[in-house]
Amino acid sequence: MSAAARPRLAILISGRGSNLQAFINACASGDLAADIGVVLSNKPDAAGLARATEANLPTACIDHREFPDRESFDQAMVDELATHCIDLVILAGFMRILTPVFIDAFEGRLLNIHPSLLPKYPGLNTHQRALDAGDTEAGVTVHFVTQELDGGPPVLQAKVAITATDTALSLAERVIALEHVVYLVAARWFLQGRLVLAETGAKLDGAPIAPTGVTYEEDFM
Ligand code: GRF
Repeated sequence: MSAAARPRLAILISGRGSNLQAFINACASGDLAADIGVVLSNKPDAAGLARATEANLPTACIDHREFPDRESFDQAMVDELATHCIDLVILAGFMRILTPVFIDAFEGRLLNIHPSLLPKYPGLNTHQRALDAGDTEAGVTVHFVTQELDGGPPVLQAKVAITATDTALSLAERVIALEHVVYLVAARWFLQGRLVLAETGAKLDGAPIAPTGVTYEEDFM
């Protein structure tokens, strides 16, 4: 961690920013003992940027379309984050595939949230795919980010039952509400030094985390 009184987060977004809002609220209320050092978007019109501005947080926009390749875009983000003394990077609906330029710079302190029970349904349209497959449950996974898309070591997973009347939209509503809870739990574990990425995978309190992550329970702090 940096020498600052509270650890500093960078939150990377591309859109709506409801997970960002959960972090804004938690940092403001003291629920999460951290400060948001910067909110970075690759899209100038991301609605989440307005949420950050409303909360008086520093923002940065680095438009990926202005770079010739993924590596130079990633390097620009690394350079930007270097000016904010960041302890933990939170991907919150950040819709760009990252290269080793970024991933290596923040290895072990880079988390993502994905709206499926990984390893099921990496990529997009997760809820519709779960419905199409006739699954009985869906959910969300917080994981460390590695080179593999949505494939880094899972940390925490929370499930919702799929009902006969569910649509992708109704499922998405239930899952996003859970996202806002579980992402904070995983971030808190990391900031407390309880969660680490070891060579063998993710560990919580020194013990290896199961391949599908810790299963979320409501009394988790
Ligand atoms: C969430 O469903 C998250 O799991 C996925 O992108 C979405 C972002 O939503 N990675 P929001 O922008 O935080 O509202």
